[in-house]
Amino acid sequence: MNALLEIHNLSKTFGGLKAVKDVSLNLKEGTLAAIIGPNGAGKTTLFALMSGFIKPDTGRVTYAGKDITGHAPHLNAKRGMARTFQIVQPFAAQTVLENIAVGAHLHMASRRAALAKAEAIAEQVGLTSQIDKPAAALTVAGRKRLELARTLATQPRLLLLDEVLAGLNPQEIAEMIPVVRGIANSGVTVLMIEHVMQAVMNLAEHVWVLAEGQLIAEGSPQSVTQDARVIEAYLGTGMAEKLKREGVSS
Ligand SMILES: Nc1ncnc2c1ncn2[C@@H]1O[C@H](COP(=O)(O)OP(=O)(O)OP(=O)(O)O)[C@@H](O)[C@H]1O
Ligand SMILES: [Mg+2]
Repeated sequence: MNALLEIHNLSKTFGGLKAVKDVSLNLKEGTLAAIIGPNGAGKTTLFALMSGFIKPDTGRVTYAGKDITGHAPHLNAKRGMARTFQIVQPFAAQTVLENIAVGAHLHMASRRAALAKAEAIAEQVGLTSQIDKPAAALTVAGRKRLELARTLATQPRLLLLDEVLAGLNPQEIAEMIPVVRGIANSGVTVLMIEHVMQAVMNLAEHVWVLAEGQLIAEGSPQSVTQDARVIEAYLGTGMAEKLKREGVSS
């Protein structure tokens, strides 16, 4: 299968800090993949570079065979690249349904069509019982579902999920995993940034690991979580060896 998204040697510096260093990756159409890495590794910055919210200092982004480096996010959204935000900011006073309909309007001028689409999406993410509430009345888990729904309503071909499971309890996480899988099964290519390893292990076919702005490993969830460089990036230098000595890791 062809790559839907290709990034070549992307770098971004904020002041003196190299947030993303020479990152390249290819995401095949139809896959569900993940980016993991410690806090501050550059994951969200990488999403912002992919989707056009910030411009890279160097490197290129190719989407569906087209060079989109530096293209504005709304143009990328029109072409089917959608991202969720780690910090969720719905229109608080509007209802859940109206919030989702905002996303649907990207491809639908008709109010009625957008609301019908919004209702279908609410069902897909399990928000049907909440659609008439103001977004401000939702719990954290509800807001995360709404963020996913708003993005899904734009009818993406590529969905970039930035920690949609953060802040959820184990039961809420267990409920969301099939929702994400269902989206991927419907044909949407999904790339998720995720700290919840249970979800990564359950969902991702391929994982890239970012640490201090650089890709340090990639492969199946099983292989990357046993990689000494990955363990050290999370736990500190020398920890892989220590865990091995203590028989904690294979
Ligand atoms: N707009 C910005 N201006 C200055 N520094 C920034 C900016 N955005 C991110 N950074 C810095 O770049 C680094 C990478 O941040 P980023 O948000 O991409 O990390 P992350 O991997 O998403 O982390 P987390 O897991 O905590 O969400 C951090 O040191 C962060 O403070
Ligand atoms: Mg982040």
